[in-house]
Amino acid sequence: MTSAQRGQPRFERLLVTGGAGFIGSCFARDVLARRDGTHITVLDKMTYAGNPANLAPITSDPEQAARFRLVVGDIADPAVVAPLVAQADAVINFAAESHVDRSILDPEAFLRTDVLGVHVLLEACRVEQTRAAAGHRERSPRFLQVSTDEVYGSVETGESREDDRLEPRSPYSAAKAAGELLVNSYVVTYGLDAVLTRGSNTYGPYQHPEKLIPLFLTNAIGDQQLPLYGDGLQRRDWLYVADHAGAIGHVLEHGVTGQAYNVGGGNERTNREIVTLLLDRLGKPWSLVRQVEDRPGHDRRYAMSSSKLAALGWQNKVTFEAGLAATIDWFAANDAWWRPIKSGEWETYYSRQYGARLAGSSKASQ
Ligand code: NAD
Ligand code: DAU
Repeated sequence: MTSAQRGQPRFERLLVTGGAGFIGSCFARDVLARRDGTHITVLDKMTYAGNPANLAPITSDPEQAARFRLVVGDIADPAVVAPLVAQADAVINFAAESHVDRSILDPEAFLRTDVLGVHVLLEACRVEQTRAAAGHRERSPRFLQVSTDEVYGSVETGESREDDRLEPRSPYSAAKAAGELLVNSYVVTYGLDAVLTRGSNTYGPYQHPEKLIPLFLTNAIGDQQLPLYGDGLQRRDWLYVADHAGAIGHVLEHGVTGQAYNVGGGNERTNREIVTLLLDRLGKPWSLVRQVEDRPGHDRRYAMSSSKLAALGWQNKVTFEAGLAATIDWFAANDAWWRPIKSGEWETYYSRQYGARLAGSSKASQ
């Protein structure tokens, strides 16, 4: 009988890279909370986006803490990566520079982590594959690359499918697409066991306040201006973080080697609609919204078909209404989490990204 038939996870020792960030920490929290014996090592560089507080629910629970380890290090450093991959049954790569606006300001870090970092992880998996073939370990590690719908570029109409052409348009999405192509090359050339997920815009507790929903929530709570790019009619498909993390776990267990799986939320909204919902629930006025200079190369719309993932047996569990309400309430109740993030490096970033934009902004029509 296989572990899947016994209802046990297929992989018992997971290396979760970028696991101190938003989605990776949700994955680690949710997997360890199942108390099914899975062990997780998080490897995280602790950039501005990595936060040990995201892992506090794990480290404060003795049973979960005993199955958890945090290693601070860079996925682009082979000396750090190799021994950790050697101990893992599977590697789930969440580590990335993840913010489009920062990629426009400073693209280089994106190439280092989102491309070279992926290469270092793949090489370490390849070494373990060779060791498995020589009988030095039971099987080679499975590699899951967490990617994004942004690799398809702006989708004016219809829905992206997994075999569509990749047409990334920002330094961030170009770096993520390059990471994907490397993964695919290792499957084809070396027969590595690897799968890919392409998630849509994710929201939920513990998201860094640089992203639209937490930025606007935390600014609105403090009665600060909300910088809406351009006409605010760009469309995104919103996915609750626990569903994104759950879908990744499902693809890890059931995905077919060499395949990519779209993970959509099924909740397409304009940015204006999102802002209206946030302000309504917080009881704050639309007059906080400022129309500011647009993001260069701004993708107008993302939309994907998730039918391939559905055929693999995954269904999202959280409705948009419930997920957004939970997120708004979490940020309203957890200013002790986000206030420290909005200081220091944040202030430099904020004035670089928004200073001139807000100075030249106008009142946004409702
Ligand atoms: P995040 O920015 O919140 O977290 C990224 C984490 O990676 C941080 O903890 C950071 O410290 C760590 N990290 C960065 N560089 C590293 C390096 N060189 N070595 C080790 N750790 C490093 O990002 P997120 O929103 O949680 O996104 C996670 C993954 O999901 C990314 O790969 C991203 O491209 C992808 N994704 C995100 C979304 C979204 O809407 N947030 C949607 C689809 C896909
Ligand atoms: O689609 C998946 C992607 O979603 C992930 O791969 C990225 O890691 C993640 O950051 C996110 O990218 P976006 O660029 O779509 O997310 P962001 O929150 O930055 O912006 C969402 C929309 O809101 C986008 O149309 C730009 C707009 N926006 C954003 C910010 C930060 C504003 O109008 N004003 C803002 O200040």
